[in-house]
Amino acid sequence: MQKPLKKLPEGFDSFAEDLLRQVETVEGYLAPNEIRFLALLAACPTAEGEILEIGSFKGKSTIILAKAATLSGNSTVNAVDPMTAPSETDPDLHGDASSFADFQKNIETHNVTGNIQFHQIFSYELAKTWNKPLRLLWIDGDHTFEGTKLDFEGFAPHLADKAIVAIHDVLHEFEGGVRVFMENVLLSPNFGACGFCGSIAWAQYVADANKAVQYRGQKLSFYRKLGRLVPFIVFKKELKGFEKKKYKIFRSLVPHGPPDPQKWLNTIQ
Ligand SMILES: C[S@@+](CC[C@H](N)C(=O)[O-])C[C@H]1O[C@@H](n2cnc3c(N)ncnc32)[C@H](O)[C@@H]1O
Repeated sequence: MQKPLKKLPEGFDSFAEDLLRQVETVEGYLAPNEIRFLALLAACPTAEGEILEIGSFKGKSTIILAKAATLSGNSTVNAVDPMTAPSETDPDLHGDASSFADFQKNIETHNVTGNIQFHQIFSYELAKTWNKPLRLLWIDGDHTFEGTKLDFEGFAPHLADKAIVAIHDVLHEFEGGVRVFMENVLLSPNFGACGFCGSIAWAQYVADANKAVQYRGQKLSFYRKLGRLVPFIVFKKELKGFEKKKYKIFRSLVPHGPPDPQKWLNTIQ
């Protein structure tokens, strides 16, 4: 368990730059700003509880979370991934049966094996027995609508007061993240501060819905902007040409620049 932190850990910026270089060679799908932001989420607990990653692939985000969590004390990261590719949205394994060997090698090389509690099962299986409060829920598993919804609904009941939920690929052409973020997060009375960093959408869970009222305007503004993206993704398999350009224009209207780390900490409750 890590105590909530209101001040950025000393040397965080240079730590994040160093981390960026360390994970450069680990295959994955995180942009540099997303890596910095994930590190911020792990390094600065907003509540007491566990970190849970859904979807580890070859360990890129697992390593980032584990290393950054050391800045605030106890650094265990719970991670769940069956390590095969049963969903149409899973990364191509290029003929390999599983990404597990690469995952193991990568976490060993980066000296975080001891910090990771890994479950090689589907997230919805883990959800059946999970019973610990979460301070950070990082969803990057099955990107279909059904898959992301199952993940959110399986673990959201365990969010500690003031915990953060972060979903990857909400601004990419997958249905799951954007729809779940809109319906389950932005329209929920129990989520307050929210935003984006690149394609990561995040929001803070507040047990007392009265404390989220002030964020309604901001949440509805995001909801309207994201709503323009949904028809492109739901009804079309692969966006091309003019349709793709239109999608990109609408996407550019969703504020998703990197937040300043200390300002971000000041924003959340
Ligand atoms: C985009 S990758 C994760 C990338 C990783 N977070 C990173 O940053 O490198 C998606 C992963 O989700 C896993 N996955 C798919 N469905 C899942 C499920 N139901 N539960 C857990 N993991 C799942 C896939 O096996 C795949 O490794």
